[in-house]
Amino acid sequence: MAESAELILDGKSYSFPVTEGTEHEKAIDIAKLRDQTGYITIDSGYKNTGATKSAITFLDGEEGILRYRGYPIEQLAEQSSFIEVAYLLIYGKLPTTAELQEFSNQITKHTLVHEDVRKIFDGFPSAAHPMAILSSLICALTAFYPESVSPDLNKEEIDLNVIRLMAKLPTIAAWTYKNQMGHPLNYPRNDLDYASNFLYMMFSFPTEKYDIDPRIVSALNKLLILHADHEQNCSTSTVRLVGSANASLYGSVSAGINALWGPLHGGANQEVIEMLEEIQKDGGNTQKWVDKAKDPNDSFRLMGFGHRVYKNFDPRATIIKKAADEVLTALGLEDSPLLKIAKELEQAALTDEYFIKRKLYPNVDFYSGIIYKAIGIPTEMFTVMFALGRLPGWIAQWKEMRENKEPIGRPRQVYTGELERDYVSIEQRS
Ligand code: MLT
Repeated sequence: MAESAELILDGKSYSFPVTEGTEHEKAIDIAKLRDQTGYITIDSGYKNTGATKSAITFLDGEEGILRYRGYPIEQLAEQSSFIEVAYLLIYGKLPTTAELQEFSNQITKHTLVHEDVRKIFDGFPSAAHPMAILSSLICALTAFYPESVSPDLNKEEIDLNVIRLMAKLPTIAAWTYKNQMGHPLNYPRNDLDYASNFLYMMFSFPTEKYDIDPRIVSALNKLLILHADHEQNCSTSTVRLVGSANASLYGSVSAGINALWGPLHGGANQEVIEMLEEIQKDGGNTQKWVDKAKDPNDSFRLMGFGHRVYKNFDPRATIIKKAADEVLTALGLEDSPLLKIAKELEQAALTDEYFIKRKLYPNVDFYSGIIYKAIGIPTEMFTVMFALGRLPGWIAQWKEMRENKEPIGRPRQVYTGELERDYVSIEQRS
């Protein structure tokens, strides 16, 4: 007999079906709750509420498991490439050699952006945060490809929008940095792979030869893979909610970029580096700052520790920590003062009962900023890097929601405002 949940309200019993996922997660299906009982549920922050069924990413917060389409991220980080993982997330399977080559070739063909995009850049103040520019220009793609806003796109049209977005976001992202630095913009190179092309657009100058370091390309691929999707996080839920209104892929991803920009979400990696630099500037006395973090009267809190879903450790942090050691050693930065401070903070978090009890262990943001800094990415670009990595996840989730013809997202509320009252003319107001 199918499992169900019984609810007793006002002395009356109601039964609701239980749905079970392939990893045996169970959910009470309350689709008919309000119709049958007049009640709704409330769950601020949705920590206990599933917004959808998805076949893309599975994570187990208790066991520290993260898999993309069933493949463990540990294997993908070590053996795959970001473009191959993007294909896996978006199309649900690892590509054949021919499929991967075609996907990569199509992306390469679309890396250029319309020349009018450069004019939009000129309108931004040089101090504009790169995430502000990125979300604006990704949404602006709907102006250059107006057919993308149609709610009735066929598979080929959706695939073209996917290719355009995968291809043009790195170009726009690199241009946000060059624009902020006042450097000449670099056009993409079709002879380079995805990660190498991004590094080239970010760091090359027309006045000199740019040598691409394969060690940095490898580290960047790993970082992008580890950020590629994370089931229904804040920015992905934003992409799905905006997309559920039949908004375009570009408009939905632009909304996701803005959600990711929040310091409580994707902005955390920038906050981590700024915290490490503050400790370094203060003399590098890590214990002093650990004590501040534990002091209830001190507002300072450690950034990059703990996670809303992972209860014991963030599996991505384990991989990124190893990559950080490898990259900094390869670049002769193993004695980096920031890495030293980071390791001391990590030791405190892993040994001090205060942090252990509160499950404050290093998360994905804690080490990613150290690698970005080591490979020359400026702090303000860290969240752009997160967006670059998360792009295939956003695309996959938007595409799944569209293919499953999910209804427009429209949560209810519990009203706590004034009861009915009559209008008062301004003369009579006090
Ligand atoms: C993410 O990867 O999106 C972050 O860890 C946040 C989250 O999953 O809630």
